Amino acid sequence: MTDLGHVLVLAGGLSHEREVSLRSGHRVCDALREAGVDAQSVDADSALIPGIIADPPSAVFPAIHGVSGEDGAVREVLALLDVPFVGATAGACRFAFDKQAAKTLISAGGLTTPEAITLPRETFHDLGAAAVLDRIVARLGLPLFVKPVRGGSALGAGPVRTGEELPAAMVSCFAYGDTALIERCIPGTEIAVSVIDLGDGPQALPAVEIVPDGGTYDYAARYTAGRTEFYTPARIPPAAAKAAADTAVTAHTTLGLRDLSRTDLIVDDAGTVFFLEVNVAPGMTETSTLPMALEAAGFGFGAVCRDLLVLAARRGS
Ligand SMILES: Nc1ncnc2c1ncn2[C@@H]1O[C@H](COP(=O)(O)OP(=O)(O)OP(=O)(O)O)[C@@H](O)[C@H]1O
Ligand SMILES: [Mg+2]
Repeated sequence: MTDLGHVLVLAGGLSHEREVSLRSGHRVCDALREAGVDAQSVDADSALIPGIIADPPSAVFPAIHGVSGEDGAVREVLALLDVPFVGATAGACRFAFDKQAAKTLISAGGLTTPEAITLPRETFHDLGAAAVLDRIVARLGLPLFVKPVRGGSALGAGPVRTGEELPAAMVSCFAYGDTALIERCIPGTEIAVSVIDLGDGPQALPAVEIVPDGGTYDYAARYTAGRTEFYTPARIPPAAAKAAADTAVTAHTTLGLRDLSRTDLIVDDAGTVFFLEVNVAPGMTETSTLPMALEAAGFGFGAVCRDLLVLAARRGS
């Protein structure tokens, strides 16, 4: 065991991504134990606060995805309990988790993100869905991509090829969130660029190219082994790889993130890199891209998780 003392891996939560989070948490916990850390996986439920007060951990590794894990709520509570944790502060998470807020900050920082319109469910209800949707198609053109502004794992997200498909896509989206982000669909190569900061500044890991079997990187394509092919490093021109790495580091710093993040990007045929979103609690499952990128860069997964916890414990918040 290291002199880190005992640490907690937070996994589960009550979002739609609970199952994915449990898988991420188990993987992080197992890897930490192999790296000699006294780690225990705990859920974010009513036992969490009494448990932390009774036996304060040296640091916490949050692996909860979706609402509460990534919107900053659980981290606000950890800060309230004076428990150091790995990753972005609650304040930074709030902007990163809201895709539209992140896109606004990112484009103000000079990066490219698909043109989009973000509207809550009530607007369609109050003003008449058909009229609003018609204007959106007229403004953005087709194809489009619709997703909840605060979501994850591609739940409620999908492409829209014709105007007739848009109402159904909106209904699917609103099943997972109250506000929809309707974005220009960008054809091209999907990549994920993870960033880690082991104390000497944020560093982009090799881009992981994502090629789903059926063409869409949906929930099943994400978490079913063999449903998606990954290429690390991504098969993109060196200039695009450099631009993607710079975009991920700029996204990380512009949004004030810490320790680790994963930026999802599309590179179009002209080599333009489009920012889709940044994740503050990236997936850590067997089919997740951050662990793949770490391995490709020669890092040990457990050692990195341990080092991030050590840094968090030293930082003390
Ligand atoms: N504008 C777009 N054009 C083309 N494809 C898109 C676009 N936006 C999203 N996608 C596709 O939808 C998927 C999910 O979108 P995105 O990564 O923005 O949201 P998410 O559901 O929060 O994902 P995550 O699980 O990574 O948190 C992407 O991985 C990509 O395949
Ligand atoms: Mg994504």
